Amino acid sequence: MTEIARGLEGINVTATKLCRIDGLKGELIYSGYNIYDLAEKSSFEEVAFLLWNQRLPNKQELDDLKAFLNKERPLDGVVERLIRELWPHVRPMRTLEIAVEVIGAIDPDSSDLTQPTLRKTAARLTAKMATVIAAYDRLRNGKEPVAPRDDLGHAANFLWMLTGEEPTELAKHVMDVAFILHAEHEMNASTFSAMVTGSTLSDMYSSIASAIGTLKGPLHGGANEAVFKTVDAIKEEKNIAPHVEALLGRGERVMGIGHRIYKTTDPRAVILERLGHQVAETSPDRWYFDLSLKLRDYLARKLEGKPLYPNVDFFSASVYRMLGIKSDLYTPIFALARITGWTAHLLEQYADNRLVRPNALYEGAANREYTPIANR
Ligand SMILES: CC(C)(COP(=O)(O)OP(=O)(O)OC[C@H]1O[C@@H](n2cnc3c(N)ncnc32)[C@H](O)[C@@H]1OP(=O)(O)O)[C@@H](O)C(=O)NCCC(=O)NCCS
Repeated sequence: MTEIARGLEGINVTATKLCRIDGLKGELIYSGYNIYDLAEKSSFEEVAFLLWNQRLPNKQELDDLKAFLNKERPLDGVVERLIRELWPHVRPMRTLEIAVEVIGAIDPDSSDLTQPTLRKTAARLTAKMATVIAAYDRLRNGKEPVAPRDDLGHAANFLWMLTGEEPTELAKHVMDVAFILHAEHEMNASTFSAMVTGSTLSDMYSSIASAIGTLKGPLHGGANEAVFKTVDAIKEEKNIAPHVEALLGRGERVMGIGHRIYKTTDPRAVILERLGHQVAETSPDRWYFDLSLKLRDYLARKLEGKPLYPNVDFFSASVYRMLGIKSDLYTPIFALARITGWTAHLLEQYADNRLVRPNALYEGAANREYTPIANR
């Protein structure tokens, strides 16, 4: 074989029942349900159940899942102590990566790869990762972590643990929808990374740590923080054109624009933009959202004819900012949602495993004679 599929573009590496994307129509479907319906009608917990079971839960099943998440949300002492040690030196995504490995290290069932145990691990990580990020943010602000509450849903609990204040109904709703929109996205780089690690029959914790490391990069989940920096640097409408021209002139990319699969508008960006308008009504940071809209319009004119449109990261940056969340938490928030999709793919992977082991075409030197070091 002499063909190379760079970036594995257009290659099906597996079959899945979890997600279908039509990049030309701008459609995103989780197990048969359109993302617009899920964003409007469901909750993050329901979507987590859907991804793990490929069907919506009944009332009892949803209550059971919520109860399990409540039980698992608090951190073990060793994990909290670790975060206290790490926060001055380590950024949040790496903290999350390390914390996941430590949560796995103290789980006596971590190497049990049977489906019932894997399902518990998936829900445990979903619960605890949000607590890790909230505790990290509290500690670096000189505050003590806030205990989770059993009367709040997952997204609301995250905001509560982050701020120690009762989130508004709008903030709860927006965070819940943001979690739903980021929960799953077929065979993206971080999901593939989880799958490669899982395919060696390494455990779910290490597979998720691999995925977190992959999500961190600016061409994937790191793009939302990069969007924040771009809009922050632009500051005013008059700076949009010179900033973008300089960026493109240097051969750089505008973050939050373009997608490997979507060649039309990313439906997640459409939903987040709508939410952005609602949040902007009362936010002191609405200038940032307004400037993002102007940047979007400028880019639409500038890139006309190219299939480059705002992706999910473009508007998540302004929505999170208007909720008062620090920019280096945007990518971790992506991970707090995507943990459900990653683990759902791993459930599929472990149930029908095949080691991922592709080839590389060799194009180095041939038939060289070994020279002893003294003669080199
Ligand atoms: C996401 C991304 C990596 C997908 O890119 P891809 O499928 O590999 O597309 P390519 O790199 O082949 O780019 C195709 C063309 O569009 C251009 N392009 C792609 N994204 C661009 C961007 N964000 N800004 C400017 N130009 C861009 C490329 O320069 C290339 O132009 P050319 O054909 O004239 O050389 C890319 O769009 C990107 O870097 N976007 C910014 C990062 C981002 O927002 N990532 C989050 C994705 S959810």
